[in-house]
Amino acid sequence: EKQDITSIIVFGASGDLAKKKTFPALFQLYKSNLLPKHTRIHGYARTDMSREEFEKRVTSNIKGTPALIEAFLSHCNYTHGSYSQGEDFERLKAVITEGEKDMQTEPVEFADENDKAGRLIGNRLRVYYMALPPSAFTMVASNIKAHVYEPDVINHIVIEKPFGFDRDTSKELNMELSRHFKESEIFRTDHYLGKEMVKNIIVLRFANTFYSASWNNKYISNIQITFREPFGTEGRGGYFDSFGIIRDVMQNHLIQVLSILAMEPPKSLDAEDIRDCKAEVLRYIPPVKLEETLLGQYVASEDGTKPGYKDDPTVPKDSNTPTFAALVLHINNDRWRGVPFIMKAGKAVESAKVIVRVQFKDASSKLFPDVSRDELIIRISPTESIYTKNVVKLPGLGNKLAMSALELNYPNVFQDRMIPEPYAALLLDVIGNDHSNFVREDELDEAWRIFTPLLHQIDQGKATLLPYPYGSRGPAGSNEFPTKFGNYKATTL
Ligand code: BG6
Repeated sequence: EKQDITSIIVFGASGDLAKKKTFPALFQLYKSNLLPKHTRIHGYARTDMSREEFEKRVTSNIKGTPALIEAFLSHCNYTHGSYSQGEDFERLKAVITEGEKDMQTEPVEFADENDKAGRLIGNRLRVYYMALPPSAFTMVASNIKAHVYEPDVINHIVIEKPFGFDRDTSKELNMELSRHFKESEIFRTDHYLGKEMVKNIIVLRFANTFYSASWNNKYISNIQITFREPFGTEGRGGYFDSFGIIRDVMQNHLIQVLSILAMEPPKSLDAEDIRDCKAEVLRYIPPVKLEETLLGQYVASEDGTKPGYKDDPTVPKDSNTPTFAALVLHINNDRWRGVPFIMKAGKAVESAKVIVRVQFKDASSKLFPDVSRDELIIRISPTESIYTKNVVKLPGLGNKLAMSALELNYPNVFQDRMIPEPYAALLLDVIGNDHSNFVREDELDEAWRIFTPLLHQIDQGKATLLPYPYGSRGPAGSNEFPTKFGNYKATTL
């Protein structure tokens, strides 16, 4: 058992991300007995809050018995201070150090008596969790380095997208961060990498002959990664309008999914081997072309009950920010040449769904010349599931065929297993120093390289945005897009 002394410092502790994700994730780990025994959680933000107000924030999205919540809160405290003043960070450091001293006097439990000879107390680990707007990242990082950082402590800094605005600004951010922290100390969070079904892709691909043998352009016709959300910007218009759907989910979440789907087999499951392969496959993808893109922006719903994007008071009336995009990526390597990867993402559409659809090529047998193509579908959300669509004989005395599905529905099949929240899974990785599910600098740069020319064209007003009603399937042409650009054939008999 680890006996490390762990301090988790949540910057932006009075904000939304901390309330909705960071504290609930920490609580989930605590509840499951997965936080290191000696842990202090230090909230830090500019708001001057009483202990009571802080506790209310921490507990507003968590569920547990009063005793458990009480016990969790006894590990938490709050300090308020600016993000710019060195002396405030000095005060924070004093609080952290005091917590570390307290933990040193806590009773140490040993799984094995022999351990006692080795060491009494383990390393000091400090996790700096930036639940902050990007404008504060570099200022906070440099103040941590100048006033809190100690070289004989293990320091992990966690940041969350947006990592820049395009390739150049992302490079600048990385350069700034790298002045203060080593790449091995930086954890760039993409919460999709903490999702159960995204983590499952590497297992599906490499632990099953069925898939590993057919995972190439000889057998696969096209792959689609689709993200649909049934709500609009709803209050986030200010943030969203300067980013748009491509920066919001494609350049990060969906490209991460793609890189795991498409990478070559890593040498091992070590973080650097996996990240080498993910970065490598991205190098074979040329920038997305505007001509192979369909963009849209939602307008009011047909029944008039839901507002259009530009009706949001935080969105400028002349906004040309896409809320829907469909586009094609080509991977010019031996495995994937000729297999289009179609990405589609839309806000304010008819359903909530994130899926990967792998469509295999036409069956080559002359016995059944006109049958539909097989498909493997990985549903990342809402209900985790893997299913295949296959051609079968329709039961009965005739010789009719039917398309049917074999489904592995997670909640049904693994009823006694809990599917962890992505943020909890990722925080545990940060504490355990596992970088596998975090974005390395070179992967990030490749992802920006692929999207930046298109983003600049859109920003310069060179793209046409097609309107689509809130709650519809997307703009005209979006249903046909995968067929037109992606070799896709609808699977019906
Ligand atoms: C976030 C985006 O990164 O991901 C949001 O900023 C989006 O716009 C969200 O709604 C989707 O995440 P999830 O886990 O709900 O699929």
